[in-house]
Amino acid sequence: MKALILSGGTGTRLRPLTYSNAKQLLPLANKPILFYIIEKIIKAGIREIGIIVGDTHEEVKKAVGDGERWGVKIDYIHQPRALGLAHAVKMAGEFLGDNDFVMILGDNVFNMDLHVLINNFYSNQANTTILLHRVDNPSQYGVAVVKGGCITELVEKPKEYISDLIITGVYVFDKSIFPAIEQTPPSDRGEYEITDAIQKQLQMGGKVTYELVRGWWKDTGKLEDMLEANRLILDELESEYTISDYPGSSISGKVVIGENVVIKDSIIQGPVHIDQDAEIINSCIGPYTSLGKRVKVEKCELDNCIVLNGTKLIGINKRISKSLIGKNVSIIGGINKIPLMSSFFVGDDSQIKL
Ligand code: TTP
Repeated sequence: MKALILSGGTGTRLRPLTYSNAKQLLPLANKPILFYIIEKIIKAGIREIGIIVGDTHEEVKKAVGDGERWGVKIDYIHQPRALGLAHAVKMAGEFLGDNDFVMILGDNVFNMDLHVLINNFYSNQANTTILLHRVDNPSQYGVAVVKGGCITELVEKPKEYISDLIITGVYVFDKSIFPAIEQTPPSDRGEYEITDAIQKQLQMGGKVTYELVRGWWKDTGKLEDMLEANRLILDELESEYTISDYPGSSISGKVVIGENVVIKDSIIQGPVHIDQDAEIINSCIGPYTSLGKRVKVEKCELDNCIVLNGTKLIGINKRISKSLIGKNVSIIGGINKIPLMSSFFVGDDSQIKL
């Protein structure tokens, strides 16, 4: 069995950050989303991984490499234009050959074991097995109608309610998906949809089974989903720090603190993840906050935030909450005022004076 990760696409919903970052490399608890996916695949015993890349191919290849660090083989497949998930699978035809394969969208994170899905696929002799999730608002997603352990129909963004089970970005396929893709025309939005290709596979007599999400699953395509995924991952942290190194500070809850971090006269309320060489002075951090490498925070209060490497937040007189702040940003404010609240969604290299 092989694995295919889709890390092309345009990431428009996460602009401005995706102007200068591949969204699949944005960090959750200071680790790129793509790394969580690769580690899940390896945990399922798969050793050959293909990654679909688009415009951000250089950045993805540089961050991930050839798989040596995990002891697996990683190949890259270039998709020149983001023409849809089914198109991405077609591009990977040569890499996948006749193998069964797990496919995961490069912006999906989940805490469920892939074995559950793979076991379902083989024990039912399915052609496709899909991870489904029950939601309250299914109309914005591809949804599945199910009967007796099998999927009987798949519809992309149904106008009328047909099911509350949405298709996540986690699948297992056999090679019969390829002829189905060949017979799938582009959708109204001009993309080759994997939902339509699997529906075609059903019409061609294929067997499609499913598992429901156990634990949690998150598509990180939007700001609020990134922050929620960060919260879910931070909740699973094991604390890692040496308390005596941080004068005048109080640290509580689950907290990970990297090497060479300076914390002075501050309150750290976990879950919090602080990467190496960060500096925190006279500040309150957390809960549910990740600070990247070399981040400097002085006279600020932050909660529910992701702050990327090299950013400086100094003397901001409102609490910063529910914010995703890019690399090397400076936000410098007037000091010593009563903290209120503010929210930012700021791209790399921004400069804001308050
Ligand atoms: P999407 O989130 O559907 O698309 P996107 O990444 O272009 O984002 P947006 O909708 O905000 O513009 O893609 C899901 C995953 O699949 C993501 O990791 C990108 C990847 N993908 C490809 O690799 N090729 C494609 O043609 C498409 C559409 C997506």
